[in-house]
Amino acid sequence: MDRDLARRLAAAYGTPLYVYDLDVVRARCRALRAAIAYRPFQPLYAVKANPCPAVVRTIIDEGFGIDAVSPGEVRLALRLGLSPARVLYTENSMSDAEQAEALAAGVLITAGSLDRLERLAAAGAQAVAVRFNPDVGAGAHPKICTAGPLTKFGIPQAELPRVLEISRRRGLRVVGAHMHIGSGFLESAAFAAACRVIFALARQLPDLAFVDCGGGLGIPYRPGEEPMDLAAFGAQLSADAEAFSAAYGQRIELRLEPGRFLVAEAGTLLTTVTSVKRTPWGRTFVGCDTGFNHLVRVAMYDAYHRIENLSRPEAEPAAVDIVGNICESGDVFARERLLPMPEVGDLLAIRDAGAYGFAMASHYNLRPLPAEVVIDGGQPRLARPRQTLDELLAGWRW
Ligand code: LLP
Repeated sequence: MDRDLARRLAAAYGTPLYVYDLDVVRARCRALRAAIAYRPFQPLYAVKANPCPAVVRTIIDEGFGIDAVSPGEVRLALRLGLSPARVLYTENSMSDAEQAEALAAGVLITAGSLDRLERLAAAGAQAVAVRFNPDVGAGAHPKICTAGPLTKFGIPQAELPRVLEISRRRGLRVVGAHMHIGSGFLESAAFAAACRVIFALARQLPDLAFVDCGGGLGIPYRPGEEPMDLAAFGAQLSADAEAFSAAYGQRIELRLEPGRFLVAEAGTLLTTVTSVKRTPWGRTFVGCDTGFNHLVRVAMYDAYHRIENLSRPEAEPAAVDIVGNICESGDVFARERLLPMPEVGDLLAIRDAGAYGFAMASHYNLRPLPAEVVIDGGQPRLARPRQTLDELLAGWRW
């Protein structure tokens, strides 16, 4: 999104405003598909990254299924017209009520614990996928590493015999082998190692229809970071899947379920500068009309987001702390960031905010959720109006 369009959107819809460029989403979908030569290949979209229906529809139209993790995400996928067969529900700490709802909808569940396997069988499920913890984790931050001994996810690979025993005793066919080892990796050594583990486990599961190697593909948030070598990633994975299918004696479907890779770079959070404060201690705080309530990634994962001053790109650069309007010291988007010196009223763009931005937003400090706009073929349209204070307060019984 160029500067003029951003300015026009901010003027039309106000700030803070999330903007998603659907052409970028389409390009990422196609790049991923093109990188995987192995067939059959069924990519899923981890809808938790950005559930905005216009975004999800764009990805579905590219032939992706949906990786869901809650009844709400299943409902969203079905409401967009996806058939239940193209939805995979990867549970963790699922309740029996949630299980019943998913089974009634005809959605396959990926079980992440032995007790869930037993309960699925008890409820009459015939088929299931199993998420294994391959002991090899990855991820840009410990909080987004989802494999290895410290995480709650998946069935430890050493418990494969128990999975087989439950499957035989209960007549529950394990049709999918699943892993997701972490989020935001740019180099794929750990992913490749985990793939070797999951394909080795899969060899011992007799009823497989697919192997799902999860998501986690990163994007270059920081200046100087290189994008993932998608061709090398795809070639390695395709070769592994070929070798597996040859050994297994049947061409199983290969699945991936990225979230961030498809949507992060398509998204920008536009915000207006509301205050510039120079302290006697030599810091300059640039305050904005949004905060970690709308984009928690910096506060939660020490993430880095590029920030641009769209109003005065030619101004003299200065090292400033860009902060939000939430009453917490951790409400910081960037420390000592070199930026054309902002003034009150300037429009800032927080880049790469399309994944886990609005999706993780809250109304903390009783600040309403921002609006969302999508740009499709260069044409903007409102995807979600700004929440009003009345709507926010109407949630309670008075
Ligand atoms: N599959 C499963 C089972 C997952 O739990 C996740 C993400 C994905 C796929 C997609 O991962 P991705 O391709 O987006 O890395 N809020 C954090 C990321 C948390 C990811 C949780 N699970 C962030 O803002 O970085």
